[in-house]
Amino acid sequence: MGRPMSLRPLRLPSFAKINLGLEVLGTRADGYHELRTLFQTIDLADEIVLRPRPKGADVTVACGHPLVPQDGTNLAVRAAEALRAFGRVEAGVHIEIQKRIPVGGGLGGGSSNAAAVLRGLDVLWRLGLGPEGLHVLARKLGADVPFFLVGGTVLGLARGDEVYALPGQVRAHVVLVDAGLPVSTAAVFRRLDQCLTPRGNSNSIFCFVSRDLEGKPDLRLLTNDLEGAALDEAPVLKERAERIRDVLVQAGAELAALSGSGSTYFGLFSEAGGARRARSALVAGGFTAIGARTLSLDQYRRVWARSLGR
Ligand code: C5P
Repeated sequence: MGRPMSLRPLRLPSFAKINLGLEVLGTRADGYHELRTLFQTIDLADEIVLRPRPKGADVTVACGHPLVPQDGTNLAVRAAEALRAFGRVEAGVHIEIQKRIPVGGGLGGGSSNAAAVLRGLDVLWRLGLGPEGLHVLARKLGADVPFFLVGGTVLGLARGDEVYALPGQVRAHVVLVDAGLPVSTAAVFRRLDQCLTPRGNSNSIFCFVSRDLEGKPDLRLLTNDLEGAALDEAPVLKERAERIRDVLVQAGAELAALSGSGSTYFGLFSEAGGARRARSALVAGGFTAIGARTLSLDQYRRVWARSLGR
């Protein structure tokens, strides 16, 4: 007989991401898009508490945010159910989510929550799969979920779910501006497909990574192919994005872009002073601006090792 599972709750951080760059390379037979993207973890995080429940109990969730589902459609619940079936676990779990990452903002909050639940329950249920063993479940839950099993500065290929940590980890101060208009990722991809102008495949990520390896990082090379379609999807967002971008660039941002399909706009700064100036100017202009820092692969691993008690 194995040791009984612990009923002690596990408290976990669930970090947000931004896409430093995103290239859409084409459509795939499965209806998704072939991507090349540079993911980056930042230290803005939701908090997740996993409360183990005994054999026969259900998987349940509680979250105070009005836009987060509190039933089986919540990606964190789906992650727990998928792992439970995969590991033939009979125990249940109650998941509490304290939201700090804006919802529907292109910051990967739901995907991050799902990855955190996989990692936490892997330990609570003593499955011993680790990030590598969880990858197959993560990619079925969503294209961004596998990234959160790795963290730091990561190259994402295929649907964005084939992930490779990069040797050059980006370190920067980040200003996030919640444009306050959640955008549907699927709708943005659809709009991009309807665009009749043929687009040449860009190679900005290749250029960025090559130069970075030579010790000459240049964030200004990076672009987001979804930005035009996302801004066309929501005209109010377009007008706000232009104002936000101007403020970020004037304050010295090395990169100012939409994260994923939006609607969060971000600026990357090498100096804390620039980030502070940008935040003050944005708040004075009536925007909600959050300050954050990038989190490297090593930092991410350390936080996770601590949280999982390893
Ligand atoms: O995988 P996830 O559910 O996060 O993706 C949300 C939507 O974004 C998908 O339903 C799909 O329409 C679109 N998508 C895509 N190609 C990708 C990733 C996402 O078309 N590589």
